[in-house]
Amino acid sequence: MTNYQIPTVIIDTEPQSIELLNSYLKEQDYIEIIGEFSDIVASYNAILEHRPAIVIIDISKKSDLALDIIGKISLNHKTCKIIVTSSNYSTETIIKAMRAGAREFWPKPFIKEDIVNSLEKLKHYVGGNNLDNKKCRIITTFSNKGGIGKTALATNLALELANMTKEKVALIDLNLQLGDITTFLDINPSFDISYVIQNLSRIDETFLLSTLEKYKDSNLYILADPPYLEQGEDITAEQISKLFDVLKQAFSYIVVDASASFDGKTITALDNSDLILLVTIVNLPAIRNCQRCLELFERLGYEREKTKIILNRFMENDEIKVEDVEDVLSKKIYWKIPNNYFTIMSAINKGIPVGVINPDSNIAQSYRELAAMLSDNIYKQDFGKKIARKPLFNFTGLFK
Ligand SMILES: Nc1ncnc2c1ncn2[C@@H]1O[C@H](COP(=O)(O)OP(=O)(O)OP(=O)(O)O)[C@@H](O)[C@H]1O
Ligand SMILES: [Mg+2]
Repeated sequence: MTNYQIPTVIIDTEPQSIELLNSYLKEQDYIEIIGEFSDIVASYNAILEHRPAIVIIDISKKSDLALDIIGKISLNHKTCKIIVTSSNYSTETIIKAMRAGAREFWPKPFIKEDIVNSLEKLKHYVGGNNLDNKKCRIITTFSNKGGIGKTALATNLALELANMTKEKVALIDLNLQLGDITTFLDINPSFDISYVIQNLSRIDETFLLSTLEKYKDSNLYILADPPYLEQGEDITAEQISKLFDVLKQAFSYIVVDASASFDGKTITALDNSDLILLVTIVNLPAIRNCQRCLELFERLGYEREKTKIILNRFMENDEIKVEDVEDVLSKKIYWKIPNNYFTIMSAINKGIPVGVINPDSNIAQSYRELAAMLSDNIYKQDFGKKIARKPLFNFTGLFK
């Protein structure tokens, strides 16, 4: 991208925010600001006409209107990358923005360093560069204990990621003997993992998208376990590795439901993962097993940050406290999923994800927020971090 400058539009009802962003963005030689608007409606017409590659839009005020416009931009100018800014950075706001089609979120007051990092990341996806630099994140749910909630997590997380990011997400069942994903989602796929693996050499994106089972009208694509036990045995660790390589070309996220064993195929999946969600519940055998997994991951040379502990079936008044679990594991709990047997069982028995059957339940909310946390689209930063406001500038004009 030597001489290419990314056409960018800024929309904010506060002139001083526009000025501040302008001063940061002007220092990035790959950015060209082609418009600044304080009027959200007027900005939309200009965006449709001039097709900027990046739109930075504030939703602190008139947020419903701003979100509506974001939805329209993502529909009518699909390649545009939308960055949302807001002084309200509750999880709910961030999720709303992402659902509307936002790609990044910059909390106010702005932190220059974060903005520059975010733009650096984004620039690889614009200016015709998006296919070459396609980035994919592999997230594996794991526990060496059965029945702990891996499949519930993988399934619900994958669907939330697909709905939230609007990017393509693959959900792979690596329980090659008796996987559960098809039951959890009540689907009957025409093809399964052994078919795809037999055809690895002729696979391209079109093949994958037509072979993996698309879940209803979502962006979630499922690769199910094989119907016959012996087909699972025939699959090798090397083939699993190759499978990831091809899936990475077509998907933004791959969520893997790994089996509860430490066989070569599971280790291959763990090796290939960017993130391992190590699931446990608050009871001593489970925590002890979790500790063993962490020890093994250390021996395998995984970076500590690669593994995140997910505490499933969490109850406030549990006899064993979260701090006790963290002490035993010498690691922070990354996320707690509430215990809600009734909702999850009703979802599993009907084959409907909890986010669909009961979107307001605490467990659906927990999966959704976890998806938001793990999504690449949100620019991660320490929300507690504050900077002193820069001096305000005079706003010189609406249009350039
Ligand atoms: N947050 C939760 N609250 C209450 N019950 C839960 C929760 N998560 C999972 N369960 C229960 O745990 C059971 C096992 O969940 P799941 O099938 O996801 O576990 P798993 O680790 O994938 O098991 P396996 O090792 O057999 O594949 C579910 O049927 C459900 O009853
Ligand atoms: Mg399972």
